[in-house]
Amino acid sequence: MKRSVKNNVSWVGWLDWELETFHGDDFSIHNGSSQNAYLIEEEKTVLIDTVWAPHRFEFVENLKSVLGDLHRIDFIVANHGEIDHSGSLPALLDAIPGTPVYCTANAVKSLEGQFGKRGWNFRVVKTGDSVDVGNGKKLIFVEMPMLHWPDSMATYLTGDNILFSNDAFGQHYAVEELFNDRADSCVLWREAMKYYANILTPFSAQAKRKLAEIAALKLPFDIIAPSHGAIWRDDPMQIVRAYAKWCDAYQEDQITIAYDTMWEATAKIAHALAEEIARQSPATIVKVFNVAKADKNDVMTEVFKSRAIAVGSPTVGNDILSSVSGWLSFLKSLKFRNKKAAAFGAYGWSGECVKVLQARLADAGFIVVPENVRVLWNPTETDFAQLLALAAALLKRE
Ligand code: FEO
Repeated sequence: MKRSVKNNVSWVGWLDWELETFHGDDFSIHNGSSQNAYLIEEEKTVLIDTVWAPHRFEFVENLKSVLGDLHRIDFIVANHGEIDHSGSLPALLDAIPGTPVYCTANAVKSLEGQFGKRGWNFRVVKTGDSVDVGNGKKLIFVEMPMLHWPDSMATYLTGDNILFSNDAFGQHYAVEELFNDRADSCVLWREAMKYYANILTPFSAQAKRKLAEIAALKLPFDIIAPSHGAIWRDDPMQIVRAYAKWCDAYQEDQITIAYDTMWEATAKIAHALAEEIARQSPATIVKVFNVAKADKNDVMTEVFKSRAIAVGSPTVGNDILSSVSGWLSFLKSLKFRNKKAAAFGAYGWSGECVKVLQARLADAGFIVVPENVRVLWNPTETDFAQLLALAAALLKRE
């Protein structure tokens, strides 16, 4: 089974409706996902990427039934070595040994690192290199280092003007009909943003440079075909425009409050702070999450949209709750920039929570405001009154 993408280009990937997590259990999947592989059948037959190892036998069988003979494949392009796209290469190359694999020098390292030195016929390419596929068309390679691995690259098919962008511009979203104009637009954009926020945010500086470099090539894009989720066929540049905004210290008029609580005192502060922010600035969107219960990837997507955050935890063991501590580790790894943060929390005796939270938030790259609310046992009217200054500090635009 193959599905037409455009002219002699087809989708031969894997729709994974039942996938629940990705990257181990580190990325939540709410709407399925896909591993998109593509087949180009011009004078040359070219496979762009493969699918994750659990699906390798079905993938190879499907290619065999589509092509009749796997030896019809002239070469393979491996845009990225991560196993959701390379996991079927061992099974495929066992069937057609010696078939050239076009990839970056770093992909040779990542593929051999994961699968061992198997004597694969690598053809190392770099940005601007190209290879003819016949009928006047060629593939042009563009290295995409750290988007999101050192080995990543994109491949552009001239004539059909298709950019096979691999992970960039993707979403963990299963779309049976494949294309963005057939997808639920709300889900599509939520998933595209979640994907960027949770996977690509740390590499925003590289994304910004790469977008400028791709724009300078002045290539027309009729289709952007990522390796996950919907294929951008209707106005494909809309996702490029979104990335241009997202990679530039993106923020909306939103404040997100993230906390955990032991006996509800910290929870009371969190919700009172939300009310105070909404009172002082009705235009600002305010969202509140208990990080021990909420999906961490969804919360990070809300942080991505926020111009400021407030983080709360009670003091426990001279520190903060492990749920908040783990969440702060994830927050730091995403390298958000140009966002304010504040701390709050309750305590019964030693009371280190605010000091710890402020240090962790500063370490995560946030601009920490000194205003805070530190409550002994349960919040009093005096404590609630301090929320006025805390909300004002978070809302203030420098
Ligand atoms: Fe970086 Fe979809 O693999």
